[in-house]
Amino acid sequence: MTDKTATLSIDRGEGKIDAIDLPVMEGSLGPNVVNVGALTANGYFTYDPGFTSTAACESKITFIDGEKGILLHRGYPIEQLAEHSDYLETCYLLLYGELPNPAEKHEFVSIVGKHTMVHEQIRTFFNGFRRDAHPMAIMCGVVGALSAFYHDSTDISDSHHRTVAAYRLIAKMPTIAAMSYKFSIGQPFMYPDNSLNYAANFLHMMFGVPCEASNISPTIAKAMDRIFLLHADHEQNASTSTVRLAGSSQANPFACIAAGIAALWGPSHGGANEAVVKMLEEIESVDNIDKFIARAKDKDDPFRLMGFGHRVYKNFDPRAKVMKQAADEVLEELGIQDEMLEIAKRLEEIALKDPYFIEKKLYPNVDFYSGIILKALGIPTSMFTVIFAIGRTVGWIAHWNEMISGSYRIGRPRQLYTGYAQRDFVPLDNR
Ligand code: ACO
Repeated sequence: MTDKTATLSIDRGEGKIDAIDLPVMEGSLGPNVVNVGALTANGYFTYDPGFTSTAACESKITFIDGEKGILLHRGYPIEQLAEHSDYLETCYLLLYGELPNPAEKHEFVSIVGKHTMVHEQIRTFFNGFRRDAHPMAIMCGVVGALSAFYHDSTDISDSHHRTVAAYRLIAKMPTIAAMSYKFSIGQPFMYPDNSLNYAANFLHMMFGVPCEASNISPTIAKAMDRIFLLHADHEQNASTSTVRLAGSSQANPFACIAAGIAALWGPSHGGANEAVVKMLEEIESVDNIDKFIARAKDKDDPFRLMGFGHRVYKNFDPRAKVMKQAADEVLEELGIQDEMLEIAKRLEEIALKDPYFIEKKLYPNVDFYSGIILKALGIPTSMFTVIFAIGRTVGWIAHWNEMISGSYRIGRPRQLYTGYAQRDFVPLDNR
């Protein structure tokens, strides 16, 4: 809290003006925040659909400056983490606030490794799904079901339970994700191999078969690890806010993360990486780009350039820059000539010069390049958003834990009611 106040004057009519003093709060970075809590007692609510200017909580985990294109985790720039760190080290940073020393890192990695298997009974869950179910549908169901299996980590008032739930979720998400894929293609589930690192283990469970030794390319495993890292957290986005809101009712962590997965699935959020590839396939050739740009600008056409635009970034998404570089490196290393990458590059070039996109500050976001790189790594399109969910799990848990271990109240937004005023019931015969 600062000693500054904001004064809100509200005209009550007939010359009466209400002046309400509201305290101004100051963060370590970013805009100051007007605490509007006192408005309710004065008979007013605020109105902010989409929460464009509402801070719903105080947090120390991640900072974004959307105008400058800056993303910091616990103060460290995403570019530095992507270059020098790895996914599990970044998980530790997000969860505990500091980078681990070598002993702490070793211990963290080995504890996560101890939790990679799922309860054997969970395997039978999969048989209840159709073979053509979308893996995100399976993820929502199976992750929610974890609360039926791990009763010893659902007491949210016990910090040990919360820690074990965090390890379990980070460790089991790749296993469940790979099982969702294996189920869809009718192959046997692969058990995790804890001699492999986090990303390589996921690839082993996705692409390995029991009758052959897995041969995981270190290049692909490194790229996958970077993809997980780049998705690890992004402050109060739609899915993280969903996890916080579900958690505010004191729901157990597995149920809260299942809620986050559901929110992530939509094409305006994590589902965009899948939508980007579908869009690039639909564009088909560089010659058709102008037609699609025109459609994106047409107010009467619902089509949007997927992978462009962001609620917070009004400049280049810093994750997209790293992702683009990673896509270039991986495609070169694997010797892949991809027509889709050519279309993507040309599309980006044209959109960045177009006055419509410049005026609206629409830049490529992380999903624009993640779809391309995932495709190059041989990941099926339906798994793209699942991979986002694996990476984001730590962010969801870090925010949930920050809320539960601090002071919080149940999340309960208000509304501007525009329906009928009170009226009397009309008996059926009189209607
Ligand atoms: N293509 C064309 N026009 C767009 C696009 C786009 N991708 N995105 C926004 N606009 C236009 C809108 O039509 C609107 O124009 P108007 O002011 O003339 O009405 C203006 O830009 C502002 O758009 P909003 O939808 O109001 O912006 P908002 O902040 O609510 O939405 C969002 C952000 C959902 C990301 C939007 O830009 C979008 O739909 N992008 C495509 C989907 C996408 O890539 N999502 C991934 C987001 S990143 C992530 O979740 C990891």
